Amino acid sequence: MNFVPYNASIAKREPVSYKLVPMNRELAEQVAEIERSCFSRPWTLAMLQEQLDNLLASWICAYGENGVVLGYAGLTVVAGEGYIDNIAVRQEYRRQGVASALLDVFVRFAQAQGLEFLTLEVRASNEAAKRLYMKHGFAQVGRRKDYYDSPKEDAILMTRSFGAEAEQVVFDE
Ligand SMILES: CC(C)(COP(=O)(O)OP(=O)(O)OC[C@H]1O[C@@H](n2cnc3c(N)ncnc32)[C@H](O)[C@@H]1OP(=O)(O)O)[C@@H](O)C(=O)NCCC(=O)NCCS
Repeated sequence: MNFVPYNASIAKREPVSYKLVPMNRELAEQVAEIERSCFSRPWTLAMLQEQLDNLLASWICAYGENGVVLGYAGLTVVAGEGYIDNIAVRQEYRRQGVASALLDVFVRFAQAQGLEFLTLEVRASNEAAKRLYMKHGFAQVGRRKDYYDSPKEDAILMTRSFGAEAEQVVFDE
């Protein structure tokens, strides 16, 4: 387990130079490595490579000019609903806006494609991730008791609904 506890003392650093690119077979190896460093039940390389052939799935990487994958995020879209599979950033590149940039791609994709909502699960204790999602308009909509293992912990369900946003735009006019 290597979840980042909320720590207001983690200083923000200057942004690093990177581009957002689709994950490919080569980059999937670095994604698998980051998975292992972040999660007790990581996506394996084989699982990630399967995602490359999954027409419903999109995985994107923040690819640094130094050839390093700084972070990545995965999205699955089913019947107009978006499920964020995971998002993570290498420890040494955190607090530089990388996760925000990745998540923003999916939010803009959801808006452009008219998705009903984006949704995800997050460990109840993962304050850094919950704050990231809240910053991007996600709200807590539910809780799944003992959803996670190693260690056992509840999942918080967070959703950003675009239907409501659309109604809001109409209302504002
Ligand atoms: C959660 C995680 C993806 C954030 O990545 P990041 O690139 O550091 O996030 P960003 O720099 O884009 O931060 C965006 C916002 O998230 C919140 N945030 C991120 N890290 C935080 C931390 N350690 N403490 C408090 N808030 C944090 C803040 O609101 C931040 O906005 P701000 O910089 O204006 O304060 C990263 O900590 C990580 O990889 N954690 C391990 C994997 C994980 O838990 N993934 C989530 C699975 S659901």
